[in-house]
Amino acid sequence: MKFITVKSYDELSKKAANIIAAQVILKPCSVLGLATGSTPLGTYKKLAEYNKAGDVDFADVTSVNLDEYQGLKGDNDQSYRYFMDNNLFKNINIDINKTFVPDGCAVDLAKEGQRYDELIKNLGGIDLQLLGIGLDGHIGFNEPDEVFTKETHEVELDPSTIEANARFFASKDEVPKKAITMGMMSIMQAKKILLIANGKNKKDIVEKSFFGPITPQIPASILQLHPDVTVVFSEE
Ligand code: GLP
Repeated sequence: MKFITVKSYDELSKKAANIIAAQVILKPCSVLGLATGSTPLGTYKKLAEYNKAGDVDFADVTSVNLDEYQGLKGDNDQSYRYFMDNNLFKNINIDINKTFVPDGCAVDLAKEGQRYDELIKNLGGIDLQLLGIGLDGHIGFNEPDEVFTKETHEVELDPSTIEANARFFASKDEVPKKAITMGMMSIMQAKKILLIANGKNKKDIVEKSFFGPITPQIPASILQLHPDVTVVFSEE
């Protein structure tokens, strides 16, 4: 594991964007696993700048996102599809038809999970998976549990996650109680993993995840078993 500590959020964003840019430059048809949340916003902004400057070309890239809230359509401004369209896809030259987010409105989320895993498999897996981390150690929406779940699956959000994500909604009651998330199989089979964490409040969970025991109670701790993980952490 490479553990990079930086001084500021801006530095974190630059580092992460450079790692993603390097991936796309070396392999223009990369499959990028992408994440939502406030942490990757700076990274996405930098990638858009690089693309605008002609330094990175996303024309041949495919993206697969980690997760989506249940019941939110892509045009809902709280959906993760909306987040990705507006914070990244519209600002780079990626082909929107090659950007995938699980469908949180699928009637049968179990079936949607199977479809999503099949899609990732048919793409040849993920070349680089970008991850944030929740305060309870969740990655994607893989919440603390008795077991690590392999497949893309429906989850009940942890009360602490609902609390943490309420800041994006008008009220806590509006935060969906369920979501669909990529499971540990697609994440762990990614060739490279880049996890970004920002802020003093993430320090404890980052320490537990990468330097403590591997347990499904701290979902990110499974990443200790991955052969190519880079963590970029800023205490700002
Ligand atoms: C959400 C997402 C996660 C993300 C987490 C942390 O719950 N499903 O993928 O890592 O938020 O978000 P933030 O970066 O805002 O702390």
